[in-house]
Formats: sequence, C-alpha cells, structure tokens
Amino acid sequence: MTFPQTLAADACLIQARLDAALADKADQPVIHAMRYAVQGGKRLRGFLVLESARMLGVPSETAIAAAAAVESLHAYSLIHDDLPAMDNDDLRRGLPTLHIKWDEATAILAGDALQTLAFELLADPALGSAETRIALVASLAKASGAEGMVLGQALDIAAETAATPLTLPQITALQAGKTGALIRWSAEAGAIIAHADPSPLRAYATALGLAFQIADDILDVTGDATKAGKRLQKDADAGKATFVSLLGLDAARARAAELVEQAESHLQPYGAAATNLIAAARFAISRET
Ligand code: IPE
Ligand code: IPE
Ligand code: MG
Ligand code: MG
Ligand code: MG
Repeated sequence: MTFPQTLAADACLIQARLDAALADKADQPVIHAMRYAVQGGKRLRGFLVLESARMLGVPSETAIAAAAAVESLHAYSLIHDDLPAMDNDDLRRGLPTLHIKWDEATAILAGDALQTLAFELLADPALGSAETRIALVASLAKASGAEGMVLGQALDIAAETAATPLTLPQITALQAGKTGALIRWSAEAGAIIAHADPSPLRAYATALGLAFQIADDILDVTGDATKAGKRLQKDADAGKATFVSLLGLDAARARAAELVEQAESHLQPYGAAATNLIAAARFAISRET
C-alpha cells in the first residue's frame, strides 16, 4: 500500500470507531454537531497512534480506541479554535464551522463533549490493562491541557496583541503546545499500548509536530483554500506569531525540511518497520491540505 492508501484505510477505521461511539447518543443538536465535527480531516494523529502501535507489534483493533480518542479531542480543539473569540473562522474541512451551522452555544458544548468522549474512549478495555488505560488517560490529559494544547492556544491568542514580536524560542514553545503536544501523544500512545520504550517515538513526534505546524503556517500564506478546506491568508492580519512571520517563507521551509530529517533519524532503531512513519513525516510538509 502507498502512504495515502494507508492513511485513507486508517481514516475509515477511525471514522467507524467514532461513529460507533456516537451511535446511541440522544437525538439532540449537540450530538448532531459532534457527528458533523468528527467527519473528514486527514486523521494524521489517529494514524500515528495506529502506525506506532503496529510498528511495535500491536494490531489496529487493539489501538483503535486511542486513535479515535485523539481525533475526538482534536475535533474539539478545532471547533473551539474556529469560534469568534478565537480565530473566528467560518469554514473547516470544506464545510461551515459549527458555530455557523448551529450556534456558538452548541459549538462550545459539542467541543466540551468531544473532549470528554476522548477520555471515555480511552477507558475501552480493548486497549489493555487498567494500568495501560490510566497511563493513556493521564498522558492525554497532560498533552491537552494547561501544559499542552490549551497552553499553546492561549499563547497563540496572547501573541496577537503582544507589544513586541515573539522570539524563535517563544514561537517554538507556542507551537510545541498548540500542535506538538497532541502529535507527540499520538506517537507515544502506540508505545504505551505496546509496553515499549516511548523515547524514540517521542523524539520523532516532537520534530514532526513542529514541522507539521510550520507547514500549516506556510499553507496559510501559499496554499489553495479549496484544497485546504479552510480560509487562508488570515494569520498575518490576525497578528499570529509563526515561523513564517518571523523568518519568512524560505527559511521556514528550510526549517521544516530539517525537522523532517531529524524526525526520520530518530526512527533508525526500528529499521524498515518505520517506513510508514517516515512517509508520514515527509507528508507533513509536502501536503496541500
Ligand atoms: C489543523 O490540523 C490544525 C493544526 C493544528 C494545524 P490538521 O491539519 O491536522 O486538520 P485536519 O484534522 O486534517 O482537518
Ligand atoms: C490550531 O492552529 C491548533 C489547534 C486547534 C489546537 P491553527 O489556528 O493554525 O489551525 P487552523 O489553521 O485554523 O487549522
Ligand atoms: Mg488558531
Ligand atoms: Mg485557526
Ligand atoms: Mg493555521
């Protein structure tokens, strides 16, 4: 299978698990909004869970709930990211954002419920022992919250009105939180489920996460909005602190390519078993969506 085929096959598995998790919930606007929000997307985070687990000998059926969990949590983060109080966007994955399609209250609540659904999914006994599941819950909580994604989002919003532009270490820290933390968790989750040493995967995903967000920032400037399925050319006007705003396009591209090489080098211990994770790192910076 080519990398796009593997990614698409995993996206189907993840969608099926999310559909099952939402199937028996109430016939309410907030539940319809949750189903809407978990459609589409590249599913890169979920793929990283499944592929890191497979690389370590764990089948997809065992790891699938963790892949669905991170995609549910990511969907929540996107709903809230698009709200008027944050990035104020009206298009996501080619469709109207939740607060446009429904209203702000429904969007906030659907986001809240997708966040808790992530932890419900991590309680799935298929993932392993109670200890394994607690390790997944605790690490995802940390990656998502005040030391991870939420912190990064807060720094991102604060930077819009900062008196002086952020420095390179400050932008790196911001992006390590807002995007890096969930990507890092995704790769580490495979190791947690497999009871393997997470360090090489953590190092891989730290570099990959930063490269992925630099690519997102480059796409904001040079991308095709129809392909991306979201509004572009917004970061500069909003005063976002990005590698592109600080270094310019060429240096940002060079940095992203360097990071992908670094990411690949951390996978050397796994040899040929890491082929798909290497392809994922390359995809992170060559993608158009
Ligand atoms: C978008 O994430 C938000 C960022 C952290 C850059 P993705 O580019 O992974 O979005 P989907 O899930 O594929 O829609
Ligand atoms: C969003 O980053 C990161 C999270 C949702 C945590 P961006 O604001 O750059 O993502 P897009 O460009 O709206 O997808
Ligand atoms: Mg944002
Ligand atoms: Mg945004
Ligand atoms: Mg962006």
